[in-house]
Order: sequence, then structure tokens, then C-alpha cells
Amino acid sequence: MNKIAFFDTKPYDLPYFKKFGANYRIKYFDNKLNADTASLAKGFDGVVAFVNDDLSAATIDRLYEGGVRVVALRCAGYNNVDFHAAFEKITVVRVPAYSPYAVAEHALALLLTLNRKIHKAYNRTRDFDFRLSGLVGFDLHGKTIGIIGTGKIGRVFADICRGISMKILAYDPFPAKDSGLEYVDLDTLLTNSDIVSLHCPLTESTHHIINGESIKKMKDGAYIINTSRGRLIDTEQLLVALRSGKIGGAGLDVYEEESEFFYEDFSQTIVKDDILSLLVTLPNVIITSHQAFLTTEALENIAKTTISNLDEFFSGEKLSNEICYQCKTGDIGANCEKRKAGERCF
Ligand code: NAI
Repeated sequence: MNKIAFFDTKPYDLPYFKKFGANYRIKYFDNKLNADTASLAKGFDGVVAFVNDDLSAATIDRLYEGGVRVVALRCAGYNNVDFHAAFEKITVVRVPAYSPYAVAEHALALLLTLNRKIHKAYNRTRDFDFRLSGLVGFDLHGKTIGIIGTGKIGRVFADICRGISMKILAYDPFPAKDSGLEYVDLDTLLTNSDIVSLHCPLTESTHHIINGESIKKMKDGAYIINTSRGRLIDTEQLLVALRSGKIGGAGLDVYEEESEFFYEDFSQTIVKDDILSLLVTLPNVIITSHQAFLTTEALENIAKTTISNLDEFFSGEKLSNEICYQCKTGDIGANCEKRKAGERCF
């Protein structure tokens, strides 16, 4: 039986991995994976890691020295992996899709909550305060939503937005064929959207895709929804824009420095991150703790695919979900085998 070290274990993971992972000897660690904790995986054949684990070169090297040959990410994004360091040492597999509906529906939940001030109304009525002042929203019907990234999640989100009669503008360097979406350049999207929602991966080219300059181009009072990755937004600039009223509100499921905080309880602590502390106090900001994926359907799919990825690796089968290492040359993308084969690769 192959031995698997499972990092950053959450209580909600256990029932699903116990159900599907019976053919592995899995040891569940609460610790996040990083260069210091990688030694816990010494003597294990594989590792299961999550979104805020730190798979930098130092971690990869320690895992490799300890005998680990496969890292199975139980998430879609792999911006936390130094894929150049992993290349030809440790195979990295991921779960490219588990429920685009879960994430797209959460993006809608953030938008509706923000716009109709449900978070405020909930607190008021629990206090028997039934006033309506300060709770005015606007109709989403007929408003323009700019969707950046029209992959699996972005397209489901677009379908939902169509269902409530919003006008959709889309930006993606690889437009989805036959989607019926109106693609425009990024500036046109920013200038014309009442709401901008981010659904692209975090790469070198998308890092701070929303920054001081792009915010200036946006409509006054526009909303920003981010269920993708925190570093897509220059949060310091977002904060400035929220405080000045340039941006009308933000629904954030992700945050630039989330790995220090998200998934843990800091309610008894003074949080030292000034930007996060200020964001939390703003009435027009909703923060959720990277929970957009958190549905029973998604958890089941994550466990099933992670175990099937490990099965493929250990039985030497072709890997369905190996990440693209974007080549060992360091020339990101240019020499990538997948790109050469005409496939998309991030
Ligand atoms: P996907 O790979 O199906 O789609 C990503 C799309 O972004 C592709 O169409 C791609 O062409 C596009 N893209 C790439 N570079 C771009 C750029 N510079 N500008 C605009 N678009 C660009 O990925 P999927 O499944 O739709 O997921 C999107 C992102 O959602 C993931 O990368 C991940 O960061 C995030 N995510 C968040 C979760 C959460 O719980 N909050 C859960 C799952 C994913």
C-alpha cells in the first residue's frame, strides 16, 4: 500500500478521502506544507496538498530527498508550486475542475449580498432593527458585468448572469468558441462594466491585473468580485479606491496574503495585517475565506479525482491531470510541450 502524507487537513476533507482513499495508507497532518514541515513526509510515496501550501523549490527538494515522487494537489490552481523545481523530480497532478457551479454560484452570492446589503440586513433584523435606511441596492437586470477569464467557471458565471438579464462583456486571450459571449479588450471591459468579476488564473501576466491604473479606468462606483486568486488585485490600491468611493464595493473570496490567515481562527488575536484589518471594517466589502469551492458535490469530486490521479501515477498510466511545468528552460510558456501541441497551458 502506498503511503500518502496529507497536509493542511480540514475536518470536511476526512469523510470524502476516507471513502475514496481506502487503497492508500494516508496520514493526515494538520500542518500546512512548507520547507519546514516537508520533513514530515519523509518515507512517504506521495503528498496531498492544498491551495495555501507552499511548494517552493526548498519544499520540493526536501520532499524529493525524503522519497516523495508525486504531489497531488486537491485544488485547481497551482500558482503555489515552483513547477520548474518540480520538473523531472516530482510529478504534480491537480483537480482541474470539480464544480465550476460551486465557484460561480458563490460569485453570485457575493454580488447579491453586496448589492442588496444582505449582510447588514441580517445583523439588523437579529437585533429587531427593521429599518431600511442604508440598504438601497440597484437592479442587476440590464447592468453590464465584465467577466475576466471565460474558462469553466467564467462561462458558468456568464450563464447565471444571462439568466438575470445582465449584459455581459468578456475578456480572455483565448476566447471560448461558440459561447455567444461578446469579447472586448480589457480596457473596454473595464470602462463599460458596472461590475467586474475575475475568473482567470494567477500567472505572471495576470498578477495585479486590477491595479491603480485599471481601477482609474473603471466606472465610478463599480463593484469588483474576486473568487479567483488574491494576487490578481493590488489590494492596497483597491483599498484606496474603496475609501474614496471610486469603487462602490468588493466581494472577495480570496486575498493577496490569505495564506497567513484563511482557514484559521484569529478571533482572539490582534491581526497585524493593516490592509486586511481595514478591508474587514468597510461596510461595502464582503470577505469570505476562500470558500467558493465548498459544496458537497465539489468535495466529493475533489476526493475522487485526487485519488484517481494517485492511482494513475502509481500504476504508471497516462496522467490525465498533470500540471504543465512550462518547461525547464525558465522561458515560461515559449517551449512548453502543451503549447507546442497547440493546447492551452497555464
Ligand atoms: P479555466 O482554466 O477553465 O479558465 C481560466 C480562463 O482564464 C481560461 O479561459 C484562460 O484562457 C483565461 N485566462 C488566462 N489568462 C488570462 C488573462 N491574462 N486574462 C483573462 N483571462 C485569462 O479555470 P477555471 O476552472 O475557470 O478557474 C478559474 C480560476 O478560479 C482558477 O485559476 C482559480 O484561481 C480559481 N478558483 C477558485 C476557487 C475558489 O474556491 N475560490 C476554486 C476553483 C478555482
